[in-house]
Amino acid sequence: MKAAYFSEHGGLDTLTVGDLPDPELGPGDVRIRVEAAALNHLDLFVREGWPGLRLPLPHVGGTDLAGVVSEVGADVAGVRVGDAVLVNPGLNFEEDGDGRMVVPDEPDIVGETRWGGLAEQCVVPATHVVPKPDGWSWEEAAAVPLTSLTAMQMLRKADARAGDHVLVVGGGGGVAVMAIQLAKALGCTVYATTGGPEKVERVRELGADHVVDYKEDPDWWKTVYGASGKRGRDVVVDPVGQATWKHSLRTLRNGGRLVTCGATTGPVGETNIQLVFWKQLRILGSTMGTPRDLHDALRLMQEGRVRPVIDTVWSLDEVREAQARMEAGKQFGKIVVRP
Ligand SMILES: NC(=O)c1ccc[n+]([C@@H]2O[C@H](COP(=O)([O-])OP(=O)(O)OC[C@H]3O[C@@H](n4cnc5c(N)ncnc54)[C@H](OP(=O)(O)O)[C@@H]3O)[C@@H](O)[C@H]2O)c1
Repeated sequence: MKAAYFSEHGGLDTLTVGDLPDPELGPGDVRIRVEAAALNHLDLFVREGWPGLRLPLPHVGGTDLAGVVSEVGADVAGVRVGDAVLVNPGLNFEEDGDGRMVVPDEPDIVGETRWGGLAEQCVVPATHVVPKPDGWSWEEAAAVPLTSLTAMQMLRKADARAGDHVLVVGGGGGVAVMAIQLAKALGCTVYATTGGPEKVERVRELGADHVVDYKEDPDWWKTVYGASGKRGRDVVVDPVGQATWKHSLRTLRNGGRLVTCGATTGPVGETNIQLVFWKQLRILGSTMGTPRDLHDALRLMQEGRVRPVIDTVWSLDEVREAQARMEAGKQFGKIVVRP
């Protein structure tokens, strides 16, 4: 099959587009003819590698994908050749009896621990395909899974409820675009930061009530804090990390919750410990989400209350340019690649 792959970790120039053997199909698997894949920041991190990451190489990234089932394993029931599907990439993120996510010791994630969707074909367990919603384009179907289930789980972990004031930082990112819309759909008042006037406008169009341009306003936390009578935020959704951490904590009210799923700008943030104990803040970590998170996010999308946001669409041969756009932070929403 034709695929975008790397044989060593590193920069964009490690990405090659060429032929690889077709992935093997296990008895519980389905083979998908990929129609569209969407980039996540994870694709950049996996390509670059990190200490302790031991992937068999070559590796094919691409955590989000949608396509047509072209073959099913011997034990598969309920999924048929010809089905149009998208994929829940978190293969072992399930719930306990109380609806809480059980954190796996060894996460199994499409595009990270196994080959992903930046290829003509992808093999995944049949248990993790979901019917493509009627009327959706392939680009929309691919754009949704990882960011929506991650954002939904973050809001759940932070116990975000109707009436809460929620801040989402880095509003143009994939997770953030979903978190803004999901928080609005939950009935929250939403504050967001983003970089540049064009993105400010687009974040407003998503439904955010107050938007601050962090590039124009380096002390944006004061603006956010003062935006509604100096009432601190109940929840901050922070996928950005080092660059926003200190300010994000400052915007919280007594008893507020900061939830993080990532560290795009670096992993070491400054924490004012006095602020944490005095205001009795909670700092929550969140990774991936459950099948219910994806199901609930998709339902809100089918009701028209949340929408996939496509930034640009590229061919597989243009995968370097597509990843370069994400590296430069130029995107708003999801960058899609069509094999
Ligand atoms: N743990 C998990 O399960 C999980 C799942 C998904 C993602 N993640 C992580 O979450 C993070 C976001 O992922 P993504 O795919 O949404 O990434 P993305 O689409 O590349 O978004 C990154 C965003 O970060 C913002 N940003 C960059 N520098 C900033 C700065 N100095 N100040 C404020 N904002 C800044 C930008 O926002 P603007 O466009 O508004 O400027 C940019 O769009 C990544 O670290 C990823 O690994 C984790």
